[in-house]
Order: sequence, then C-alpha cells, then structure tokens
Amino acid sequence: MLATVFCVAVALVKNVLASHQQPLLIDPKDLHACSILEFQLPGRVSFRDSDVYKFQSESYWATNQGELSAFCHTAPRDSQELQQIMLLISQTGTFFAVKSGGHSVVANTSNVVDGIVVDLEHLNHVTVRPDLGFVDVGVGARWNDVYQKLEDTDYGVVGARAGSVGVGGYLLGGGLSPYSGVAGWACDNIVLLEVVLANGTLLEVDHGHHPDLFMALKGAGSNFGVVSRARLQLVSAHDRFDVTFIHYKAEHTMQAVHAISEYTDVANEDSGAAVSISVGGLYDGRRPTVSAVLSHPRSVLLSKVLAPFFGVGHHLVSHKRMSQLELAMMYDAMNPRGFRQHRATTTIRNDVDSLTDIVQDYVSKLHPNMSCFGDEDGQGGLLIQPLTKSHLQTGRWTNPNMLGLQEEASPLLLLSVEARHSDLHDDELIRPLISEFIYAADRNATERNASHDFRYLNYASADQFPFEHVRRDHKLWSEVQATKQKYDPHNISGKQMRHPFKIQPYS
Ligand SMILES: *[C@@H]1O[C@H](CO)[C@@H](O)[C@H](O)[C@H]1NC(C)=O
Ligand SMILES: *[C@@H]1O[C@H](CO)[C@@H](O)[C@H](O)[C@H]1NC(C)=O
Ligand SMILES: *[C@@H]1O[C@H](CO)[C@@H](O)[C@H](O)[C@H]1NC(C)=O
Ligand SMILES: *[C@@H]1O[C@H](CO)[C@@H](O)[C@H](O)[C@H]1NC(C)=O
Ligand SMILES: *[C@@H]1O[C@H](CO)[C@@H](O)[C@H](O)[C@H]1NC(C)=O
Ligand SMILES: *[C@@H]1O[C@H](CO)[C@@H](O)[C@H](O)[C@H]1NC(C)=O
Repeated sequence: MLATVFCVAVALVKNVLASHQQPLLIDPKDLHACSILEFQLPGRVSFRDSDVYKFQSESYWATNQGELSAFCHTAPRDSQELQQIMLLISQTGTFFAVKSGGHSVVANTSNVVDGIVVDLEHLNHVTVRPDLGFVDVGVGARWNDVYQKLEDTDYGVVGARAGSVGVGGYLLGGGLSPYSGVAGWACDNIVLLEVVLANGTLLEVDHGHHPDLFMALKGAGSNFGVVSRARLQLVSAHDRFDVTFIHYKAEHTMQAVHAISEYTDVANEDSGAAVSISVGGLYDGRRPTVSAVLSHPRSVLLSKVLAPFFGVGHHLVSHKRMSQLELAMMYDAMNPRGFRQHRATTTIRNDVDSLTDIVQDYVSKLHPNMSCFGDEDGQGGLLIQPLTKSHLQTGRWTNPNMLGLQEEASPLLLLSVEARHSDLHDDELIRPLISEFIYAADRNATERNASHDFRYLNYASADQFPFEHVRRDHKLWSEVQATKQKYDPHNISGKQMRHPFKIQPYS
C-alpha cells in the first residue's frame, strides 16, 4: 500500500518535469572560438550538424553525458595541436571540457554545455617497452587497447576493470584495479606524465621534474592541466588471472556481507587477491541478488584470505582463467553503453555492523523504491570494494599521490551506488534518492564511529566533495594550493570548465 502511494507521487513529479524543458541559452563568444580554431587547425573541428560530431557524441558511455550539446568538438592529432588548442581556449575565455574515454557520469565533466569539447580520441598510441619495464599510453586510448597490446607478453598493467574506460580520466582520479592489492592505485604506477598547461606550455613531469605537479596530477582530476600521455610501470604477470564468480542466494546476503568484512581485515596477508561485490539487479520488484567477483594471479581456491566467500550458501560458482583483456571485456559486458547512468559514493571503515545496516537499507528501501520507475531496463546496485592496507600504503615513501590515504592504518570499504535507466525524466527522481541513501549511510557509519571522509573522485556525484578529505590535511592542502598557483595561476581550469570538482582556494 505504502509503495503504491509512493509510486503515484513519482508519476506526478514526472509529468511536472516533462512540461518544463528549457531551451539552451547560446553565448556567441563560444561559437566564435570554434571558428577561430577551425581557421587555425583546419579539419580538426566538428560542429553540431556534422557526422563526426554525432559519432563523438555517441561514443560517451552514459547518454546523459553524451547528449550535452557543446558548440563544437576538437580532436587534436598530436600534443602540438593540443598546445595550440589550449592556448586559444585560455585566450578566448571559452568554456571547455576534456574527454579521454568519456566514461564519467557527472554532467559537464567530459562534455560541456555550450563550449568546446577537446576530444583526445586520436592521442591513443600504445607503445610497450618490456625491456624498460613500462608502457607509454596516449590518454585517449581505452584500457582494452592497452590490454590488447599486452596480450602476448608476460606483463600486465594497473588499469581499469572495465576495458572501455578511457586511460586519462581514470588515472587522474586514482584508479582501482584487480592489481591494486599488490601495486596500489593505478596512479601510483605512473612513471611520467606529459601535460599541457592552460597557457599551452607542454611539460614532462616525473619525480625529478616538477615533482609538485606530478603529485598533484595523481588524484586531482582536471584541475591542473590537460594530460596527453602517461608512462606506466608494467607488472609481471606470469599467468592469466584466476577468476571466480559467485552468485549468492538472496537469503544469505548478510552472510556474504560478513565474508567481505572478514576478508578485508586479513586481505593484507595475500595481496594478490582482489574482490568486488555487488548487491543489485533489475528494478523489477524482486529482491536484489548478491554476486562476488574474486580474482587472483595464481589461484583463488588456494588463497586463504578468500576462503570466507566459499562458506556462504550460493546458487552458482564458476571458475575461469582469463587474461587481463578477457576480464576487462567481461566487465564491459556487465556495464553496457547507451543508458542514463548515475552514481554516488562513500567510504567507511571496515565495521561489519555499519556495513550490515547499509546493505540492509539498500535491499529493503532504495532498491524497491527504484522499482517505481516505468523503465523496463532500469537496474542498479550497491558496489562494495575493499581498499586493503597494502593497496592504500603502496608507494607511501617512494611515490606520493594526492588521495591523502597513504597514512591509513586500517583498511577501508569503498561503497558506490550505481543506477541505470532510459527515461530522461527519471534523472531528477533517481539522483535525490541516491543522495539521500548515501547521507543516511554516512549518518549510520558516524553513529558507529566507522565513517571516513574519503570520497573517490571517479565515483562521486555532482553534489559530493572529493577534495574535502585532502583539505583536512593542512600540509598536503597548502602544497596543492601552491601547485595550483604555480601551474594554473589564472585558474583557467576552474573558471572555464563547468564540472563540479574544483580545487577551492585555501581558507
Ligand atoms: C552543465 O553546465 C551548465 C552550465 O553551467 C548547467 O546549466 C547545467 O546544469 C550543467 N548540467 C548538469 C546536469 O549539471
Ligand atoms: C541505520 O541504522 C538503523 C538501525 O540502527 C537502520 O534502521 C537504518 O536503516 C540504517 N540506515 C542506513 C542508511 O544504514
Ligand atoms: C523509500 O520509500 C519509502 C516509502 O515507500 C520511504 O519511506 C523511504 O524514505 C524511501 N527511502 C529511500 C532511501 O528512498
Ligand atoms: C573512533 O575510531 C577511531 C579510528 O578508528 C579511533 O582512533 C577512535 O579511538 C574511535 N573513537 C571511539 C570513541 O571509539
Ligand atoms: C605558462 O605557464 C607556466 C606556469 O605558470 C609558466 O612557467 C610559463 O612561463 C608560462 N608560459 C608562457 C608562454 O606564458
Ligand atoms: C577557480 O575557479 C572556480 C570557478 O570560479 C572556483 O570555484 C574555484 O574556487 C577557483 N579556485 C581557486 C584556487 O581559485
């Protein structure tokens, strides 16, 4: 009965939203910048009526990102063209966004309303140098392109689970990977970055050259310049990943939750193990199901830390050996393109009672509430990814990053709520439900002294603050401020980008 009343209310709000579609406002200054660009770099600019523009718009993962209407797209062929583009963008004061793979779900992050999209799709060269232990990657490459090149070598690389994710945005946000237990965040494995500053200057940054900028780029998103190329350390992978999928019975959800918590406590003892758990499924009124993906470079079954996952009642267990490419393609199949996508995140300490409350809340409230939406293909889940101690502390002495977690004494749990659907008008209903759930989860964790203020940039929603955590570390934050002042003194990336994740001045 309650549910019916709630669904009726949803339908009413939907109608109101449908009748309030606003026309776009056009600022002619921006269109003018596109024309100058076309004059300077003939053939590199595409306008709204062109096939190239349409093709590029469709290449975004989430339709709610792809549908934003930029004045034009420009796709540089090399770093020198990117330099020219950035110089012109600063000079004209136009709004812009930078796209590598376009996997972000936060509007105006890799696309921009009324401005220029700098599409890095052509900066996608992948050069593997096993003799030197690294791979050079143009940030417009997708992780699948990188894994493809590594297929017949004895190496892997710390990259995204889903292969269609672009290299650039993923690296600049930190980057979680099946290799994170042994090698940390993907950004901890960066050896060198090529970056174009707002004024068009090209720099190569590493430990020895501009180390301040090098560190800031590892976790700060697009606040410091446009990264065009990354040199990444290879990890030796003598064999393929051993992968196990487990689908649990719904009545055993809470035992599965206990298994995650138990694993997270001891994960350090076998850092090769990697786990992600998802509680979710279609919004069809049925109880969400729980599934786990376990991986290990040698053997899942022989890994003692993974044992808790096998002690819980399940429907189905399947084992398979997979290359990094095959694993990435499997994750892609689970995360298809062409839907509207929403996401929000939080982080808690590994407290089993808090986790139980939060999962219970997802299963009994948020997921059923989502069933109110008319969409047949609407679905979503709560994703739980342990941030183990070895993951967090890798590179602590040798390779500092800007995530501010390298001194953590205990492991954490990274949670994210993800929802996908097709109907435009559901956006305004789904987003607040997700936010409300995340705030409730935080309140619960706070009550149990299990809250943590890290908000992973790559999963944050537009109303979250990924740099709050760094801001509380006064030493780190003042370094970040000085770096910002030095490399982007006019705050071009702050003022001329419309995304919400900006570095604010010191206060
Ligand atoms: C994108 O940016 C424009 C301009 O600032 C803003 O009006 C719009 O609300 C943003 N889109 C979303 C979905 O936040
Ligand atoms: C918080 O905990 C209470 C019980 O302690 C529970 O009823 C509620 O659903 C929880 N909410 C969240 C968001 O975890
Ligand atoms: C879900 O819907 C119920 C009413 O059916 C409401 O009381 C509850 O607050 C909603 N919770 C969330 C997280 O949306
Ligand atoms: C809360 O948790 C922190 C970090 O785990 C711990 O240092 C602190 O002693 C705890 N406080 C209380 C009141 O339990
Ligand atoms: C571009 O900006 C950098 C960093 O602020 C500065 O060192 C350099 O001199 C600037 N170059 C030009 C041509 O203004
Ligand atoms: C840069 O500009 C943005 C947008 O105006 C603003 O929100 C941000 O605080 C600025 N950052 C700095 C460091 O001045």
